[in-house]
Amino acid sequence: MSTSPEVQARLDEYWSGRAPEYDAYQQRPERAALDRAEWGAAFSAALPPAPADVLDVGTGSGYVAFLLASLGHRVTATDHAEGMLSIARTRAEDLRRRGELAPTIVAGDAVAPDFPEASFDAITSRYLLWTLREPDAALQDWRRLLRPGGVLIAVDSTWFPDGIDPAATDGAHGDDEGAFARAYHSGVRAALPLAEARSIDAAADRVRAAGFRDVTVTPLEAIHALDLEHGVAPGHEVQMQYLVRGRA
Ligand SMILES: C[S@@+](CC[C@H](N)C(=O)[O-])C[C@H]1O[C@@H](n2cnc3c(N)ncnc32)[C@H](O)[C@@H]1O
Repeated sequence: MSTSPEVQARLDEYWSGRAPEYDAYQQRPERAALDRAEWGAAFSAALPPAPADVLDVGTGSGYVAFLLASLGHRVTATDHAEGMLSIARTRAEDLRRRGELAPTIVAGDAVAPDFPEASFDAITSRYLLWTLREPDAALQDWRRLLRPGGVLIAVDSTWFPDGIDPAATDGAHGDDEGAFARAYHSGVRAALPLAEARSIDAAADRVRAAGFRDVTVTPLEAIHALDLEHGVAPGHEVQMQYLVRGRA
């Protein structure tokens, strides 16, 4: 079932507005080196050896895309929120000017990425599935974009196992929590099947149903330990994150 364009427009507006603060949080200096080491290890363990052709969908400001490019992969990264894309593009241009490896950043809808069949060795997504409309159609499309034996790596958590608080959606308050609640109002939540999932199995089951084989779910213990030590973004709670991996 396809969703209305208003749902994606609401999400784009929210993530574009959030982009500078979101990006700053991803780069926080007190744990940047530790993050880089642990995320690098988690993705490298699940990816084919570099250089592989990787598509990072819902890349945001590109944390995973830049990390994987720095590890020697040929990375294309897409998002639908212009605010996020513009930060990622600027960073990619700066790196290229300095002669460093950078991902190619393009605008695109993760539900139907516009690439030829069998173009990639791996598709990555971090923190996308929970906020993705039509995840089943997206997963089937991602499988078609992978070469035989290619891998899907989706990192996510159960961010809102008790539901996104509907009471908070009424206010016209300008703080971040208010902006989040207004963006993720009941009509939007209804279009996001994984937003309020109570178990990571909900995502893994959809990955299997889309035809991926050898689907595994790995808790990211080292990231959890970092979150416990350094804390997470204001208004968030430390949650175990999982890496869901499947083969095309
Ligand atoms: C929580 S952020 C995660 C960003 C990044 N992957 C990371 O790990 O930091 C979710 C991102 O998904 C993007 N997004 C949501 N729906 C999308 C869609 N249909 N197509 C492309 N991007 C989408 C948002 O714009 C936002 O940048």
